[in-house]
Amino acid sequence: MTERLELIQGDITRFAVDAVVNAANSALSGGGGVDGAIHRAAGPELVAECRTLGRCPTGEARITKGYRLPAAHVIHAVGPVWWGGDRGEDALLASCYRSVFALMEQHGLRTVAFPSISTGSYSFPIERAAPIALREMREALARRPELERVTVVLFSARDLKVYQEALSAP
Ligand code: APR
Repeated sequence: MTERLELIQGDITRFAVDAVVNAANSALSGGGGVDGAIHRAAGPELVAECRTLGRCPTGEARITKGYRLPAAHVIHAVGPVWWGGDRGEDALLASCYRSVFALMEQHGLRTVAFPSISTGSYSFPIERAAPIALREMREALARRPELERVTVVLFSARDLKVYQEALSAP
């Protein structure tokens, strides 16, 4: 299973996968960080499709086409804002990843690239987020043989190191 899960440092907008995951906000209106990068690379058709979808609650996800991205689809997942850890943040973050895999199953998608959801503007500590993300990815890979590849695209060398350490932790 481990060979179907990979960690890479890079820019998620360059990945030619069935779906790239966007760390979106509930309005699905675009924003900064990875959201801004995905919307810039996909072009204005993306925000137009997002407008037709309404709001997406925290912990859920919505799917659109990828437009000018090399990826066929974008799955917009809304991660929790970090409030200190006592407001259900861990469960909401896990729910984001599960919602992405559920949409992939519904749409028959086999390859996906994730950013580190919630660990930028939403301030979720990455050392706490990485094991939650990796646990959900491993569970999905174990349950679904049709998933070909799950890639986590980390923007910085430091973030990559945190995920590598979490992946190799016993
Ligand atoms: N490729 C991969 N990762 C990226 C890229 C990129 N092109 N750009 C930024 N990142 C990384 C950040 O370094 C961070 O580690 O994505 C991670 C998530 O950070 P944010 O994009 O800030 O996402 P999040 O913390 O979930 O906050 C979401 O930010 O932009 C707004 O509209 C968005 O309101 C929402 C909030």
